[in-house]
Amino acid sequence: MTKTDTPVSQVLDRVLVLEMVRVTEAAAIGASKLVGRGDEKAADAAAVEAMRAALNELAMDGTVVIGEGERDEAPMLFIGEKVGSAQGTGPKIDIALDPLEGTTITAKAGPNALAVLAVAEEGNLLNAPDVYMDKLAVGPGYPEGIIDLAKSATENVKAVAAAKGVDPSDIIVCVLDRPRHADLIAELRGLGCGVVLIGDGDVAGVIAVTNPETTIDLYMGSGGAPEGVLAAAALRCVGGQFNGRLLFRNDDERGRARKWGIEDLNKIYTRDELAKGDCIFAATGVTDGSLLKGVKRMKDGLITTHSVVMRASSGTVRWVSGEHRNKS
Ligand code: FBP
Repeated sequence: MTKTDTPVSQVLDRVLVLEMVRVTEAAAIGASKLVGRGDEKAADAAAVEAMRAALNELAMDGTVVIGEGERDEAPMLFIGEKVGSAQGTGPKIDIALDPLEGTTITAKAGPNALAVLAVAEEGNLLNAPDVYMDKLAVGPGYPEGIIDLAKSATENVKAVAAAKGVDPSDIIVCVLDRPRHADLIAELRGLGCGVVLIGDGDVAGVIAVTNPETTIDLYMGSGGAPEGVLAAAALRCVGGQFNGRLLFRNDDERGRARKWGIEDLNKIYTRDELAKGDCIFAATGVTDGSLLKGVKRMKDGLITTHSVVMRASSGTVRWVSGEHRNKS
């Protein structure tokens, strides 16, 4: 078997799992120089540039399917951009990325900013347009189908509470703190639920349902669709259920979705429809958060990083601490 005949699944396993951490580390280190500096654009640009350079060192025929935007609006890591040093010869990999998930958080030195990416075999990640997505997530250990975005928040809370053997008022729900969520928050508080409001960063918010230490049972509310696909990829690796439905504000957004091959604009996607087959999810903390510690720039040029990399087919989760020297 020649090198190029190596099955993509094997490449994902043997080659790309740890390489992905190097990519998110690079982006996080790039952004870390801008933590608390009040400049969202500069922080994002630093992360994008570093992530792109790291991706281009990998021996793969990669395509960005979720990136910084469409070609005319993003100079780097735009949707459709080819990345990797083995174009035409290496394994064909689709990449969903967010070099800096939490640009505002980073500018304000708040919690839970991450550098994130997910990779899968070609065709296995939904090419989600940059629109909003209504999201609903619950952690592992519940019967399949316990959550349903077609049902009300109250019905979902009651279903999870019954399965957990607790009162609905014992359920904790994480929601993005936005005016558009006022009714949702009122409905949840009417049930007596604890509502954990986050300022930004719903990839970490969704993943928090999988970590018992956060005590968060459910994630609810709308946020970016690309972030929804990334979160679904993470839940595919560690368990938990996810429902997502694209939300469109105008015909331009509907047109974008159709351009990427989405026909049923009202579809409720399950986790496995957003991220199929084998996939890898990697994240490095930029600022301290519920999932990961952030980058620390120490004296004498030492930089420390904390990352996680997960793989769907094996369910392996690796926590990686990095010490970096000779990096700026
Ligand atoms: P950015 O890193 O692009 O700023 O995204 C942060 C974020 O909070 C996402 O986690 C979330 O999906 C989205 O913004 C929510 O959008 P909005 O701020 O418009 O409510």
